[in-house]
Amino acid sequence: MQTAIIYCSQHHGNTKKLLDAIAQEGGVDLMEASASPEVDLAAYDLIGFASGIYCSKLHSTVTACAARNLPRGKKIFVVYTYGLWKPDLRDLEQIAREKGAQILGVYGCRGFSDYGPLKLLGGIAKGRPNAQDIAGAVAFYRELR
Ligand SMILES: Cc1cc2nc3c(=O)[nH]c(=O)nc-3n(C[C@H](O)[C@H](O)[C@H](O)COP(=O)(O)O)c2cc1C
Repeated sequence: MQTAIIYCSQHHGNTKKLLDAIAQEGGVDLMEASASPEVDLAAYDLIGFASGIYCSKLHSTVTACAARNLPRGKKIFVVYTYGLWKPDLRDLEQIAREKGAQILGVYGCRGFSDYGPLKLLGGIAKGRPNAQDIAGAVAFYRELR
């Protein structure tokens, strides 16, 4: 079984930590969304969309990539890290509906952020994702597969 994960992890590489652990399961291609405006996902059995949360949403390059490249009828999943508030995933859910995709699962955990004034506080969610968060992501992926 082949899995593709389209991702953006530009703030601190928090989401990428989860994805690197998932990729060690084998048969997983990680594709950076900003570098891949056109990707052929037809051959993949399972497609993940992953990013940090920016202004309550998945990164726009990830949802844009889904809108442009997700073939019809695929099985998909979502992985995200967030600083404080769980996200609004309705954009991706809408794309999934339009493309007849089935969202098999969503995994999210907190991720360190020192964006803007948070820097003055030394940041939030320090040390996250931690080993437990990463193990949770791998367990989530194993369950999906
Ligand atoms: C510009 C910007 C906007 C953010 N907006 C949110 C937000 O709306 N809600 C939230 O919980 N975290 C927010 N965060 C924190 C990130 O979601 C969090 O640090 C995440 O783990 C970053 O993932 P990454 O390192 O994979 O990019 C924001 C961070 C940045 C830099």
